[in-house]
Amino acid sequence: MAKFASIFFFFTLSLAMRDMYVANEVKVKVVPTLFIFGDSTFDVGTNNFINTLAKANVPFYGVDFPYSIPTGRFSNGLNTADQIAKQFGYQKSPLPFLALEKFQNGFKKSILNGVNFASGGSGILRQTGQKQWQEVVFLEKQVEQFAQVRGNITQILGPSKAAKFVSKAVFLISTGSNDLFDFASNDSNIHFGLEEYFSLLQLNYFSQLRNLYELGARKFGILSVAPIGCCPAVTFANGGNCVKPLNDLAIVFYKATQAVLQKLSSELEDFEYSLANTFAMTSALLNSPSTFGLNETKSACCGIGKFNGEGPCLKALNASLCSNRDDHLFWDWFHPTEKASELAAATIFTGGKEFVSPKNFSQLNC
Ligand SMILES: *[C@@H]1O[C@H](CO)[C@@H](O)[C@H](O)[C@H]1NC(C)=O
Ligand SMILES: *[C@@H]1O[C@H](CO)[C@@H](O)[C@H](O)[C@H]1NC(C)=O
Ligand SMILES: *[C@@H]1O[C@H](CO)[C@@H](O)[C@H](O)[C@H]1NC(C)=O
Ligand SMILES: *[C@@H]1O[C@H](CO)[C@@H](O)[C@H](O)[C@H]1NC(C)=O
Ligand SMILES: *[C@@H]1O[C@H](CO)[C@@H](O)[C@H](O)[C@H]1NC(C)=O
Repeated sequence: MAKFASIFFFFTLSLAMRDMYVANEVKVKVVPTLFIFGDSTFDVGTNNFINTLAKANVPFYGVDFPYSIPTGRFSNGLNTADQIAKQFGYQKSPLPFLALEKFQNGFKKSILNGVNFASGGSGILRQTGQKQWQEVVFLEKQVEQFAQVRGNITQILGPSKAAKFVSKAVFLISTGSNDLFDFASNDSNIHFGLEEYFSLLQLNYFSQLRNLYELGARKFGILSVAPIGCCPAVTFANGGNCVKPLNDLAIVFYKATQAVLQKLSSELEDFEYSLANTFAMTSALLNSPSTFGLNETKSACCGIGKFNGEGPCLKALNASLCSNRDDHLFWDWFHPTEKASELAAATIFTGGKEFVSPKNFSQLNC
């Protein structure tokens, strides 16, 4: 009873604080609202609601969630979006837009707690991932969904408070890997060319970030692409070794993203960003796993075939599952473990300039 009462008290108190903050703009220090975009590194259940092959709502996904419930996260437990949200003071990521939309009743209250739009298999380009995974929510569509939410926030708070609310929110984005995988796997791109492809990516990324700015976003926390040439889905066919051309694409992507962000911040007033170099972070883990408490960086914990990299972590396909998840960098053929995501999030939040610049994510929060 006492426990119930204190939980209830806490609940009403936190609602009261939120209301006080929103209604009277009392300067109570609260965690920033998070709006989250991108691919499977950030997806917390979006793909459960669409017709796609990129799904993680079946075992062994979620094996370390309470009751081992698979939620749609491409992880054994929390994913990178959750771990960054934790650094900001939440328990995990806000809910997926498609889930909130389905349960209209709580929609209005929920969107003020943040929304996650990320969709596994998606990329910056509209067509990315569609051949391999069928339907995905591409970045442009995620931004359109945010535009709707923005309208709803205005309905709830009125125009000026809504603008202030959105300007204080942090916009987290992790995308690009699937665009690079698609580029690398398409023979006709040998003719299309690297430079043209990256110009296209930059143009599209620029315009989506600009659209978010027009909708009132001011604080951006962006993740670049990890060394995708080192994930088990790639290395199993290369004797367990990283594939350099893919890693080189990830390095170029970082520089391309940096250029986009520099341009936006020079053109747009109050545009504030932090760019996490996930390539550098993951390389540090690969070079010295024991420093970070890991001891297995080649094999995925869960999957099929060599290095568990030949197929997804699906119990129905007789995937093998390791017991020492926290020792592994990779959970499945493409994705990090909950533990590796936690390490990355800590560096993203408070790390130095070699990993996150021109400031770290904690410095976006003021
Ligand atoms: C949110 O906005 C959309 C489109 O602007 C509208 O159709 C919907 O009814 C709104 N939802 C709520 C709960 O206000
Ligand atoms: C390869 O790229 C070309 C040009 O970008 C595109 O038209 C085609 O659909 C792609 N093919 C595959 C298999 O993705
Ligand atoms: C990794 O460390 C764990 C103990 O934390 C141990 O059980 C396991 O055998 C080690 N694996 C390797 C490959 O060294
Ligand atoms: C999984 O293993 C069981 C038992 O060994 C076998 O009957 C079944 O055919 C296997 N399923 C697949 C998809 O390989
Ligand atoms: C990262 O953020 C923390 C907390 O705001 C700050 O104290 C620290 O100086 C930053 N780290 C670097 C190396 O910039």
